[in-house]
Amino acid sequence: MEIIRIPRIMREITKNLKIKSKSIGFVPTMGALHEGHLSLIRRAKDENDVTVVSIFVNPTQFAEGEDFEKYPRDTEGDKEKLQKIGIDYLFLPEATSLYPQGYSTYVNVEGLSDKLCGKFRPGHFQGVATIVCKLFNLIRPNRAYFGQKDYQQILIIQKMIEDLNFDIELIPCPTIRDEDGLAMSSRNAYLNEKERKAATVIYTTLREGERLLKEGLKPKEVKEKMIEILRSEPLVTEIQYAGVYDPLTLEEVSEKQAKYLLAIAVKINNTRLIDNFLVY
Ligand code: PAJ
Repeated sequence: MEIIRIPRIMREITKNLKIKSKSIGFVPTMGALHEGHLSLIRRAKDENDVTVVSIFVNPTQFAEGEDFEKYPRDTEGDKEKLQKIGIDYLFLPEATSLYPQGYSTYVNVEGLSDKLCGKFRPGHFQGVATIVCKLFNLIRPNRAYFGQKDYQQILIIQKMIEDLNFDIELIPCPTIRDEDGLAMSSRNAYLNEKERKAATVIYTTLREGERLLKEGLKPKEVKEKMIEILRSEPLVTEIQYAGVYDPLTLEEVSEKQAKYLLAIAVKINNTRLIDNFLVY
C-alpha cells in the first residue's frame, strides 16, 4: 500500500493507471474506519484492478458549531486495517493542499441538498459535493463506492455525476450494522454505555415503520407511530426528522406508493445519528 499526501502526485499516478487501462475503484472516507467502511473497500477491491481509499476529514462539510475538531481520528489504526485488506493507494491529503488560501469554488446540487439532513446542516452537502468532485478529478475512478447509510449523500453524488458529466459508476452498498441493529458510524464512538443502548431505538423504529407500511398503514400514520416510539426513549433529546419519504425526491409521502424511504435523524444527548430503510 502506497500512501500519497500530495494531490499532484495522486493525479500523476491515476493518469498512468488510465494509460495502462487499469480500472480504478475508489472509496472516499473521513477515516476512523469501521466494518461499514471496510465492506465498501473490500467490494472495490473485488471489482477493480486498483483500489484507492481516501481519508480526509473535510472541513467544508461541517457547519459552524459542529464536531469538526473532535471528529474521531485514528490514522495509524486505519493504515493497519487498509494494509490488511491490501489496497493499492491511500490518499491522505492535508487540508491546506485541497483548500489553499484563496480557494473559492464550490459545487451545489440544488434541491436535494436542502431536504432532510440539509435542513439541519446548512452547507453540509455543498461541502460534500465539492470535496467528492475534487477527489473524483484527482483519482478519476471507474467506480466509486458509497454506503446507503448516507442515502441522501448517494442521491446528491449521483445527481452531481449526471449533471457534471463524470464518467463514473456510483455503486451503492448496504448498511452494515452492529448485532443489535445500530448502523455502524464513526460517531458511535461518542456514545457512552447508556447512550449506546438507547441508540438502538433508531433501528427498532425503522423496523416497526417498515412492518406497519407493509401491513398497509398510511405513511402519515406510520410517521406518527415512528415519532411515538422515538419519544418513548428518554435519551432521544431531539428528533430532527422521522418519517416516510419518496426515495427519489426526498419529499414527505402522504399517500401509498410503490417504494418508500424511511429515514430518521435524532440526537442521543449531544450525538447526532442518522439511519434509513428502503421499503419496496
Ligand atoms: P464517512 O462518514 O467516513 O463515510 C465514508 C463512506 O462509508 C460513505 O459512503 C458512507 O456512507 C459509508 N458508510 C458509513 N457507515 C456505513 C455503514 N454502517 N455501512 C455501510 N457504509 C457506511 O461519508 C463520508 O465519510 C463523507 O461525507 C465523504 C463522502 C468521505 C466526503 O467527505
